[in-house]
Amino acid sequence: MKVTVCGAAGGIGQPLSLLLKLSPYVTHLALYDVVNAPGVGADINHIDTDVVVSSHLPQDDGLQMALTNADLVLIPAGVPRKPGMTRDDLFAINAGIVRDLALAVATHAPNAMVLVISNPVNSTVPIVAEVLKKAQVFNPRRLLGVTTLDLVRANTFISQLSQGKLSSKQLNVPVIGGHSGETIVPLFSIGSPEFYQSLNDEQRDALVHRVQYGGDEVVQAKKGAGSATLSMAYAGFQLAERLMKSAHGDNESAKYASSFIYLDDRIPGASYAKEKLGVDYVSLPTVIGAEGIESIDSSILDKIDEHEEELLEVAIDQLKTNIAKGVSFIKGTA
Ligand code: NAI
Repeated sequence: MKVTVCGAAGGIGQPLSLLLKLSPYVTHLALYDVVNAPGVGADINHIDTDVVVSSHLPQDDGLQMALTNADLVLIPAGVPRKPGMTRDDLFAINAGIVRDLALAVATHAPNAMVLVISNPVNSTVPIVAEVLKKAQVFNPRRLLGVTTLDLVRANTFISQLSQGKLSSKQLNVPVIGGHSGETIVPLFSIGSPEFYQSLNDEQRDALVHRVQYGGDEVVQAKKGAGSATLSMAYAGFQLAERLMKSAHGDNESAKYASSFIYLDDRIPGASYAKEKLGVDYVSLPTVIGAEGIESIDSSILDKIDEHEEELLEVAIDQLKTNIAKGVSFIKGTA
């Protein structure tokens, strides 16, 4: 597959590109950034795998060359958070960056699968969808907002809390809702019911809070030098690889397959979720197939416990505002 990384020279873009260079599913890795793409490309190109690497800057139709014939486009372009910032604070800068990249995808890679990493994901995914809709190339099965890091964190944090009793490798805690603060709803009652029920209320709330605000731990520790990059590259790669494997007909278990998606009525499970939650976009577990999202496991919404119901209510309320902001950014600038 030809895979394009937009924002390849960044904190996420570099390790993500490294992982993609190691993947047996990638034939051509195209690295695009507004700065330093050739440097990253030259470096990665010395790794002894058969993946062909090309590097592109905006000049000389670089974006067009990077995107043409791409099967998968990953977008970690834009600015990350500094201490004290929420993901929503990034909207002012990242919305325009993501819109312009989406316009280029619509023109040069209209059939590609698109993974949006740039924050705020709750708004940038609607931005990409609206751009693709306007260009009449929107395929809801092929646009995914990357929330995988929340799943990775949920598995890691409950494993750490159990002091090794639960191995994160065996865990698959679903995380639904969105990708910022209280919109992140980990479903420990489903992912690890026995251990979760053994926790008291204080421990339970602390665990949920750690997943919702896990990104802040990294932002604070980096003291202004950015947000999660290495764990994010790992998480983004897991989802990308899942999609690439499925495109090759390998449908193994769907760990890490949740993502922030448009609830299109043509996708099985979408109408139920839309009706129940009252939003057009949400993160839910998905079944991935050769063409992208095959179906959505919205039945999970009927299995969550009372406390998670309350968390989801708060999440959906905030999500509505985030989604509307993204949609109106495109509709308002028609
Ligand atoms: P970074 O600043 O290290 O890298 C961003 C890269 O994007 C830079 O190399 C920059 O030159 C490039 N860029 C800027 N404008 C561009 C354009 N128009 N076209 C192509 N490239 C462009 O930031 P980092 O840490 O890599 O984060 C990137 C984004 O990912 C941020 O928005 C951050 O909030 C988000 N993020 C998302 C996560 C998720 O779970 N979805 C987790 C962590 C970060």
